[in-house]
Amino acid sequence: MQQSSSIVPIEQLLREPFIDILVYPSSSVEIARDRVKEIESIGVKGLVLEGNSIINGLHILGKGCTSIVVKAVLDKKSSVNSVSNDNNNNSSSNSSRSLEDVCDGMVVALKIMRTDSDRASMEHEARMLAIANGVGIGPRLIAYSMNLLAMELIDGMHMIEFVKEFGGSSGNSDGNSGISSKAKDREGNHNHYTNRGNCNNHAYVKYMLRDILEQCFLLDSIGLDHGELGRMDRHVIIGSKAYIIDFESSSMNRRVTNVTSAANYILFGKGRALADMLGLCRDKSRIVDALRMYRLDMCRDKFNQLLTLLGLKFYKESSACR
Ligand SMILES: Nc1ncnc2c1ncn2[C@@H]1O[C@H](COP(=O)(O)OP(=O)(O)O)[C@@H](O)[C@H]1O
Ligand SMILES: [Mg+2]
Repeated sequence: MQQSSSIVPIEQLLREPFIDILVYPSSSVEIARDRVKEIESIGVKGLVLEGNSIINGLHILGKGCTSIVVKAVLDKKSSVNSVSNDNNNNSSSNSSRSLEDVCDGMVVALKIMRTDSDRASMEHEARMLAIANGVGIGPRLIAYSMNLLAMELIDGMHMIEFVKEFGGSSGNSDGNSGISSKAKDREGNHNHYTNRGNCNNHAYVKYMLRDILEQCFLLDSIGLDHGELGRMDRHVIIGSKAYIIDFESSSMNRRVTNVTSAANYILFGKGRALADMLGLCRDKSRIVDALRMYRLDMCRDKFNQLLTLLGLKFYKESSACR
């Protein structure tokens, strides 16, 4: 069960059980003291214990190999990029907005480095995310310090859940296949596309897949390799659009493989149920060829050829959901 929205002010973070969040998985009070200062220094006013992951009985947004991510309220003045959720048209849920009103702050996702992480600092991830943000990709970077990174809060489902929800009963080609009532509920909450007129689920899923591949193409174009898109189960969140998250393994110094990794996941990996449902892979050998051609020459033309073969070329918002 989700806890109701209550803010834990920073003064209380050194107390049990909240201290566990600051120094997970250790229980070092010394580290916790330093982290409270650090949290204060980037302008966090308090944490909001909500989300589907739980550590030591406390709800958080997510848990990764090197960090935990928790909803937090940030002083509006603290934003390094002078961004605000006011012009964020997609990620804040109603409860977030009312929280912002209540505490006069900005609701963000706060990534806190785990004490067992071998990372030196959050700096590399912040730099990579800032580069991705420069072309409109990823949650917007708001502030960071050695062990913390505050970013835009994304409300949606992990890619792996999206595959389960929409690819669940593949093979039914009536245009409404593979969607559970749970998925319909989520759409009602998170997705304005499906609430429009006669937009069907196939168009919605195709739109998201196209969105992911377009973002991967943009990343390829700027030379930023995400590094984990072949395993995008938890590295893409589907909200009102697709969000690529977690740029910790990213590099500007490697050969880029974003489109090919993402396409492999969608067509031949864990996302295959979606590709099967949509019949994307009818001409497998030509698609494999198109991927090979793209790998050799990562230009817009070769990318368009791939999209055309997949039947995703025209799935922009306007054509999918009018
Ligand atoms: N901006 C965000 N908004 C909402 N939830 C997020 C955000 N960033 C991360 N999360 C959640 O936290 C989890 C762990 O984040 P991640 O960046 O993958 O950590 P790690 O670097 O330790 O792997 C994600 O799978 C997701 O559930
Ligand atoms: Mg991760």
